[in-house]
Amino acid sequence: MKIITVKDYNEMSQKVAEYVIEKVNQNPNITLGLATGGTPLGMYKYLIEDHQKNKTSYQNAQSFNLDEYVGLSQDDPNSYNYYMYNEFFNHIDITKSNVHIPNGNAPDVQKECIDYEALIEKNGGIDLQILGIGNNGHIGFNEPGTSFQAKTHVIDLTPSTKEANARYFHSIEDVPAQAITMGIATIMKSKEILLLISGESKQAALSNLLHGEIDESSPASVLRNHPCVTIFADEDALRDTGK
Ligand code: PGA
Repeated sequence: MKIITVKDYNEMSQKVAEYVIEKVNQNPNITLGLATGGTPLGMYKYLIEDHQKNKTSYQNAQSFNLDEYVGLSQDDPNSYNYYMYNEFFNHIDITKSNVHIPNGNAPDVQKECIDYEALIEKNGGIDLQILGIGNNGHIGFNEPGTSFQAKTHVIDLTPSTKEANARYFHSIEDVPAQAITMGIATIMKSKEILLLISGESKQAALSNLLHGEIDESSPASVLRNHPCVTIFADEDALRDTGK
């Protein structure tokens, strides 16, 4: 695992964006694995700026998102589908049929998971996966205790995840109880992974990832078994982690 230390959130966003842009330019047919949440917002902003200024093209790229809430329609402002179009896809030239996000409102969510996993496989897997990390060490929505063998599946969100995400909803009761998430095994098959970590609230999760046991109680710890992971971490997240 390589760690790139950055000063703050803005520098992290800029550095990750530069890295992604280089990869997209090297391989215009790249398959990107994309994340939502607060952490990658700055990266998307820099990618859009670069697309407008330097014309980096996503026309032939494919994208697969990590996760989606169960039970929200695709145009619900809290759905990750809405987030992705609003924060990124509507501002770049990606071909809409190349965009893939699990449908949390599918009539049969179990079938949706199987189909999503199969689609990733059919497209040849993910070349570059962007990840954030939950305060509880989750990646995607793979909560502590999720099997490292899990493929795309439906997960019950933990109270700490619901609490962390309640800021986007009227109240914690409105946070969906479940989500569809790529599994740990799905994520681990990506050829390369970039993990973005910013802020004090992520210190414990980062410390566990770097120094804790590689164990299913700490989902992100599995990344130590992956051959090509780069962590972009800011000083607030790294403080007291011994790095
Ligand atoms: P955040 O979420 O970027 O909003 O902190 C990260 C995550 O839950 O994976």
